[in-house]
Amino acid sequence: MKKIALTGIKPTGIPHIGNFLGAIQPALKLSESCEARYFIADYHALNSTKDPEAIRQMSLQIAAAWLACGLDPNKVLFYKQSGVPETFELLTMLLAYTPKGLMNRAHAYKAMLQSNAEAGKDPDDGVNMGLFTYPVLMAADILLFDTDYVPVGNDQFQHVEMAVDIAQSFNFVHQCEAFKLPEPLAHEASKTVLGLDGRKMSKSYGNIIPIFAPEKQLRKLIMKIVTNSQSLEEPKDPDTCSVFSLYKCFADEQQISALRERYLAGGMGWGHAKQELFEVMNSKLRPYRESFEQLMAEPSHINSVLKQGSDKARELASAKIRDLRKILGID
Ligand code: TRP
Repeated sequence: MKKIALTGIKPTGIPHIGNFLGAIQPALKLSESCEARYFIADYHALNSTKDPEAIRQMSLQIAAAWLACGLDPNKVLFYKQSGVPETFELLTMLLAYTPKGLMNRAHAYKAMLQSNAEAGKDPDDGVNMGLFTYPVLMAADILLFDTDYVPVGNDQFQHVEMAVDIAQSFNFVHQCEAFKLPEPLAHEASKTVLGLDGRKMSKSYGNIIPIFAPEKQLRKLIMKIVTNSQSLEEPKDPDTCSVFSLYKCFADEQQISALRERYLAGGMGWGHAKQELFEVMNSKLRPYRESFEQLMAEPSHINSVLKQGSDKARELASAKIRDLRKILGID
């Protein structure tokens, strides 16, 4: 039996190269060896955005992004969290097995308390219950589908560990194995994708390159990558250079060693290196960009893909809920 891999994709922001290399590609790779269940976590986004149009638009965009990057909905169960209302019934069940103290220890919540303290505000200022119980909703997402592996960034490890705690507590109380215990899987590449300023590429640093940036914008962004002030003649160190580090993510072995030699030989300016980077990135990304644009031109198609996936996911979910209701004595 294949293992089950599940992950949630928050519909926030424009997907960038860091997401592409660090999350989308590894998750698609994983779907070749596992039974994959990937979903748009739209109710999670509600904690941070209350703008209906933004939620609608970002959900469409992120779904189009994954489809454009090669997610095949015939192979991966691809759905929207909101399309599987069983999630929210499970959330209510799990809340009764979740100590409040466990939630008090969540990093995201603790960070809010700390920033409020520093600003001299009430500790819970701006904290809604959705944010406070976020890890329980995430546990419901995961436990509903008998998940083995949860591919996520390091910042989400604690949430997966909390899902394990909650599942164990339920299994212990009822002396059963109702829930499989999931394991987080780290995305390796996410640490190494550098942004325009040489720090890790991240929306919060404002240093991103969007995956689907039109050619002109892509070129402009690449030309903005921060480099040192070495002259054209000087030999350059490829291993401390963000241009080269991005180049390695897109070029093949031969191209990489050829550019490495040009760096070391001297006589190559930063403009040349950036032009090389633009060319490999543009040729790798062009098909994804075209496919993204086609998908976005037909939102009804994306919605119908998600609807079909959600209907299939609901079949699995409702069987699980039926068992759980019996265990609980609700049925
Ligand atoms: N919290 C995750 C993030 O911010 C998204 C998410 C929601 C998720 N539910 C999930 C990830 C379930 C893995 C499993 O990226």
